[in-house]
Amino acid sequence: MAMDIKPSLLSSLVALLFLLFAQSSNATNKIVEVNKICNITVNPSLCSKILNSKPGGTNRADLITLANYTIGVVRSNVTNTISLIKFLIRNSTNSDAKNHYQLCLTHFDEEGALHEVDYAEKMLKAKDYQGVNVAASGVKTVVDGCVFGDSPTDPVFPDHSSLPKYAEYVKQVADIITAISNYLMGIYK
Ligand SMILES: *[C@@H]1O[C@H](CO)[C@@H](O)[C@H](O)[C@H]1NC(C)=O
Ligand SMILES: *[C@@H]1O[C@H](CO)[C@@H](O)[C@H](O)[C@H]1NC(C)=O
Ligand SMILES: *[C@@H]1O[C@H](CO)[C@@H](O)[C@H](O)[C@H]1NC(C)=O
Ligand SMILES: *[C@@H]1O[C@H](CO)[C@@H](O)[C@H](O)[C@H]1NC(C)=O
Repeated sequence: MAMDIKPSLLSSLVALLFLLFAQSSNATNKIVEVNKICNITVNPSLCSKILNSKPGGTNRADLITLANYTIGVVRSNVTNTISLIKFLIRNSTNSDAKNHYQLCLTHFDEEGALHEVDYAEKMLKAKDYQGVNVAASGVKTVVDGCVFGDSPTDPVFPDHSSLPKYAEYVKQVADIITAISNYLMGIYK
């Protein structure tokens, strides 16, 4: 009797292992609750607001769809910030201010944040989730470079425009991409 059971047991074990293996290779693009993703961001309520505003609802959205959506949001926010900076450059009468905004433009345009956003999208397409994570950090770093200067010894420009608020918003949206990429990489489950 036992001799008869064993081979079938073995084959079902093999089938089970195969199934588990096949699933684990696809386990990265899971459906994860929005609350769980937003819980690990710097601004959970903004994160929920953004992810829940995805057209079609988020109840069944997978991580890749959410990442792609958020990359689109941050691109739009970076683009808005670039328009604001261009206005501030035009509107500045003082050369310190003009220089500051000119420097900020290079931190947000195709050499800066916009480049990092495109890179994030490219990495997502390539299923390189660590690359997505690096690009999201890149966005936060270049944005900080505009607001606080590129080096800790740089004096912080006393900016009374809306730019610091826009910059903070971009960073908080980029942080949602960081959170999603942490789930895609399996750092959080
Ligand atoms: C949210 O994060 C806190 C720690 O920061 C943790 O204690 C809590 O369990 C988390 N909640 C969810 C839903 O993940
Ligand atoms: C990502 O979003 C863009 C629109 O922003 C869409 O054209 C593209 O198909 C999406 N890709 C994935 C993998 O969802
Ligand atoms: C960020 O982009 C989203 C999507 O286009 C838009 O709804 C939101 O108003 C933008 N927020 C800012 C502060 O630019
Ligand atoms: C534009 O520049 C003028 C003169 O410096 C200033 O009073 C005004 O607040 C600026 N507008 C904005 C929106 O920053």
